[in-house]
Amino acid sequence: PQVTISDGSSRVSAVLSTGESVEVLLFGATVLSWKDAGGSEKLWLSKDTKLDGSKGVRGGIPLVFPLFGPASSNHEATSKLPQHGFARTARWEFLGKSTSEGSSSSVKLDFGLSSDGLAESVKALWPYKFGLLYSVTLDRESLNTTLVITNDGQESFDCQMLLHTYFNVKDISTVQITGLEDSKYVDKVDGAKIKTEVSSPVAVSGEMDRVYTPAKGPQHPIVISDFGRPSFRIVRDNLEQVVVWNPWSEKAQGMSDFTPMDGYKNMVCVEAGSVDGWQKLDKGDAFEGAQIIYIL
Ligand code: BG6
Repeated sequence: PQVTISDGSSRVSAVLSTGESVEVLLFGATVLSWKDAGGSEKLWLSKDTKLDGSKGVRGGIPLVFPLFGPASSNHEATSKLPQHGFARTARWEFLGKSTSEGSSSSVKLDFGLSSDGLAESVKALWPYKFGLLYSVTLDRESLNTTLVITNDGQESFDCQMLLHTYFNVKDISTVQITGLEDSKYVDKVDGAKIKTEVSSPVAVSGEMDRVYTPAKGPQHPIVISDFGRPSFRIVRDNLEQVVVWNPWSEKAQGMSDFTPMDGYKNMVCVEAGSVDGWQKLDKGDAFEGAQIIYIL
């Protein structure tokens, strides 16, 4: 595998000898692109996204930490943070690569962010000592993204994390998502009502913003089908929730960084996370959450 650092050292890309590739932006350690051997792009990325850390990337896989969604006065410790926290806009450090050649060719890229690396203005919003290690592993069939959160300070903190993956789809009207059967969800487009999924698979025919807790647990795969055939299988580790989000036409038009305007027809966010309640990390504790996405 070949690893290249480009764009004034703000992007790291890796290509396997068989042609599969991944590209990561150091702002947010955001995976921007993931292509199969034939060069077909697996992730959706808005043409007008910011890529300079002034805002989270609109597409790819933004990392949500330490807060999911907007801040709330009900949880004082995170009440000053911006929507989805600061990890998706902070500048991360590229820590290095590990590669393996041969029939099981793969490359792992490691990225780090710690409280020491944050701007003072961000530290003031959330003053805890933490370390984040994010590993992006590409092999011929899959992409694995793993986040390890450590509490490096004396004081305990609460956090949430989520891998906000924007999947590229051919036609949203044909998308079906399985693996959410009999699962409780919070319906954010219907006053945060708690509901239970009955329809299976889930289809998207309008604005959707749901926080599922899949009944079968993280190891049970979530499968996204598009145009009548399965295209992605997602297996989670330690991440109990799955958010399904599509802004649909009106909301997409209202977002300055969402282009083309009808791009909502070609994307669906299926986001693995730990976002129902809080992970409490005491001094020295760690939390690890991961997803593996297989191309089908
Ligand atoms: C999803 C949330 O994860 O992210 C939605 O469930 C939100 O409510 C969406 O609108 C996009 O968030 P942002 O901050 O990137 O516009």
